[in-house]
Amino acid sequence: PQYPMFSVEMPIPPVKEPKLVTTNPANGREMRYYEIEIQGFSKQVYPGLSEAEFVGYDGISPGPTIRVPRGVESVVRFVNNANQNNSVHLHGSFSRAAFDGWAEDMTQPGEYKDYYYPNRQSGRTLWYHDHAMHLTAENAYKGQAGMYIIDDEAEHALNLPEGDYDWPMILASKQFNADGTLAPATGLFFGDVIHVNGEPWPFANVEPRKYRFRFLDAAVTRSFGLYFANSEDLTTRIPFQVIASDSGLLEHPVETELLYISMAERYDVVFDFSGLAGQTIDLRNLAGQVGGIGTDTDYDNSDKVMRFHVAEETENNEPDNSDVPENLRSVPYPTPTDMEPKDFVFNRTNNVWTINGARFSDPVGRLLANVSTGTVQRWRLINTGAGWTHPIHIHLVDFRIISRTNTGAQGTGRDIMPYETGLKDVVWLGRQETVVVEAHYAPFPGLYMFHCHNLIHEDTDMMAAFNTTVLPD
Ligand code: C2O
Ligand code: CU
Repeated sequence: PQYPMFSVEMPIPPVKEPKLVTTNPANGREMRYYEIEIQGFSKQVYPGLSEAEFVGYDGISPGPTIRVPRGVESVVRFVNNANQNNSVHLHGSFSRAAFDGWAEDMTQPGEYKDYYYPNRQSGRTLWYHDHAMHLTAENAYKGQAGMYIIDDEAEHALNLPEGDYDWPMILASKQFNADGTLAPATGLFFGDVIHVNGEPWPFANVEPRKYRFRFLDAAVTRSFGLYFANSEDLTTRIPFQVIASDSGLLEHPVETELLYISMAERYDVVFDFSGLAGQTIDLRNLAGQVGGIGTDTDYDNSDKVMRFHVAEETENNEPDNSDVPENLRSVPYPTPTDMEPKDFVFNRTNNVWTINGARFSDPVGRLLANVSTGTVQRWRLINTGAGWTHPIHIHLVDFRIISRTNTGAQGTGRDIMPYETGLKDVVWLGRQETVVVEAHYAPFPGLYMFHCHNLIHEDTDMMAAFNTTVLPD
C-alpha cells in the first residue's frame, strides 16, 4: 500500500529507568537493576488499514534506550511475555559468555533471564536485540531491538552535542501486506518500507544547530548509503562529521557526504543545521543497490529515509556552544601481531549459508577457532561470491580493519572507508572482498559466536563459535 511520506514525527525511544539502584557488594561499584518485558503489541501503521502485530521490549519498538555511565554495572531482567523463545544479546558489550545471548540459551514464554553487564568499556553506542536460534530474524523484525548507550566522562569533556541534541537513529526496513498487516519475515527480503525509530519515513523538527545522530542499522537485511540534501536540490549533498563507529570515538572526526552502513553497524554523526535555518533537509539512501556497493533490492521509496524541518532560530535564541574537536581520543588499538591470519570463508555450501563449510546447527563442526584469552589475532574474512554481501560481527571483541582487498571482477573495489579506521565489531564484507581484522581477544574466557549479521543468513546458518577458554593439551 501507499504510505503518506514524512507525515509522522520521528519518536525518540524513552530512556529506561532502573527499578533499583544499589551497590555491587563484590566490588563496591554502583549497580542498576532494570526489568524489561518482551511483549506483543499492535499498532496501526497505515492510516485507514488494519493494525500490524509486533513484539517489542516493553511492548514498544525500538525498545527503551538504556543509558549507563561507564563503570556502573547493570543487571537487566528480560521477561518473556511473548509466545516465542528468545535470547538477548547486548551487541558490542564484552559480556561474560553466560550473559552474551548464546543462540541456544533460550528463555521460554513465561520465563525470564537476568543478564549481567559490566559496562566497563569506553563510551559507545551499543544495542540489544534478540539472538534466538533460528528465530533471530523474525524476532528482530517484529521489533526486538533497542539502543544501549555507555556514557563516558571523557566524551562529555569534549563538549559534543548532548542531551536533547543527541538522538538514537535506528534504521530498519519492513514490508506490509495490502491490508496493512506486517508481512512475515520468512522468505525475505530487503523490505520496501524504511523506518527510523519505528516509524516509516518520519519527519523531525530540528533547530539550526549541531546534533549528534547515533545511526544504527537494525534492519534484518538492508544496507544504506546515507546522505543529506536539501529536499529541493537532492543532487547537492551536505557534508557532515562522523565522530564514532561501533566501538566508540574515532581519533579524529571524518568529514563525509556519504555514509555506508550495513546491518548492526553504528556510526555517530554530527550534523550541523546552523547554516540551514528555515530549510527542509532530507536524509536519503543511495539508490541502485546502495550505489552499486550492496545487493539490496530497490523499491519506489527505498531511496528516502526521513525529512528534517529546520526552525528559523534555536530555542530561546540560545547559541550552540557544542563543538567537534579535532582530537577525539587516542584509540586503544590492539598491539599489532605478525601472525598469519586465520581464514574464514563466508559462502553457500549445499544450499545453506556457511562459514568454512560449517553450519552453526552442527554442534561439532561449528567450533572454528581456539584463541587464548588475552592474545591478539588476525582473522581474514573472505567472501568469494558476487551475489551477496555479509556484514560480519565478532562477539566479545573490538577489532581494527587492517585491509580490504578486491578479489574478483565483480568486486566493488572499495578500500577501507575513512570512517572505518576506528575500532569496530562489524565489518561490511562486500562482493568478492577479503577483509583482515585484528583484535585483542579479551577480557573473558568463554565460548562466543561470530556470524553474518544479515539475520536471514545468520539464522540459516552462517554462524560459528570461537573458544577463548583453551585448555593445555
Ligand atoms: Cu548483533 Cu551476534 O549479534
Ligand atoms: Cu551474509
